[in-house]
Amino acid sequence: MSMALIETVNITQKYGKQDIIKNISLKVDQGEVLALIGPTGAGKTTLLRLLDLLETPASGRIYFDGMEVTAGKHLRLQARRRMSFVLQKPVVFNMSVSDNIACGLKWRKEKEATVSQRVNSALELVGMTGYANRNARTLSGGETQLVAIARALAIAPEVLFLDEPTANLDPVSTARIEEVLAHIIGEQKTTVVMATHDMSQGQRLAGRIGVIINGELLQTGSPNDIFSTPQNTRVAELVGIGNILGGVIASRDNELVGIDVGGSIIQAISEHGIGAEVHALIRPEDVTLALHKDASSARNTFEGSITRIFPVGALVRVELACGFPLLTVVTRRSARDLNLAVGNRVYATFKATAVHVLKRWN
Ligand SMILES: Nc1ncnc2c1ncn2[C@@H]1O[C@H](COP(=O)(O)OP(=O)(O)O)[C@@H](O)[C@H]1O
Ligand SMILES: [Mg+2]
Repeated sequence: MSMALIETVNITQKYGKQDIIKNISLKVDQGEVLALIGPTGAGKTTLLRLLDLLETPASGRIYFDGMEVTAGKHLRLQARRRMSFVLQKPVVFNMSVSDNIACGLKWRKEKEATVSQRVNSALELVGMTGYANRNARTLSGGETQLVAIARALAIAPEVLFLDEPTANLDPVSTARIEEVLAHIIGEQKTTVVMATHDMSQGQRLAGRIGVIINGELLQTGSPNDIFSTPQNTRVAELVGIGNILGGVIASRDNELVGIDVGGSIIQAISEHGIGAEVHALIRPEDVTLALHKDASSARNTFEGSITRIFPVGALVRVELACGFPLLTVVTRRSARDLNLAVGNRVYATFKATAVHVLKRWN
């Protein structure tokens, strides 16, 4: 039996009368990288602060390495020495980068030789060796974040908490920080719990994802689980499943069902019975557009007219009315080739297997 390094049992947190964390039971295994994803205000930072033992839960228990750390101050402080927390907006002191990284070690009264050796290897780990003598206050946002990560790692923590490590950073700094984190994760085998509102960051870095919305841990699983089979519509929305259509199962032929969505029938694979109220979840990128009805094996083809077109980065999002509203995404080139314009008629096609069917309960 493997023991979780951190375990929470039904923890809650309140600020005033507001429930901020609602009955969260979560296990974090030794060496795993867990990303907590959720929108702003969901409670990610609060949960990290609880796990880091900076805050005490209003109710519930927290175990660290098998000990109940919510029980007393002594155990709590002992456990905290084995953890590091990188704040969303890290604070660096008005001193050299090296001295900043040495802080935690000096508080722990490490020997001077140990301090300088640990500082050097932490600098190396984040690729900031050349910055040792720079005043930390003169660094860019991305560099400051790297120094904060180095400072957190210098004490060789067993758990590293990262709160939105790349929020407010430009794409180049973000990529650099993710690269450093991926390297640390691969090399150090440190347990990492990170909060992010960037789904794709969780997907890139974490082995497991926990979705937090409105103080509730709604789903945990592998990135693939979360992205392909969200268990409810709130998670589906969060992970960018642009089409969430309410309907009723109207027919069945083995595992192939027909879902009646306001009079249109969408073919899907589902084990729910006839009459079941469901949501059909369809990713915009799984829908293709064509000017003519094609004879592909895809089970679903709908004719519709374009109601809205708007660019998103390198892609173009297209909204259709085809008996129900359908959001699709195409490349700029296809948008040009198909001569897409509001009011034009097109055929939208997607496979029955591209439809994820959820029983409706919310
Ligand atoms: N110290 C506090 N006092 C009162 N409310 C707070 C405090 N800290 C956070 N909150 C509230 O708790 C909720 C969750 O916040 P937070 O954990 O920071 O979410 P996230 O990190 O997911 O954005 C928000 O509604 C926020 O306004
Ligand atoms: Mg936060």
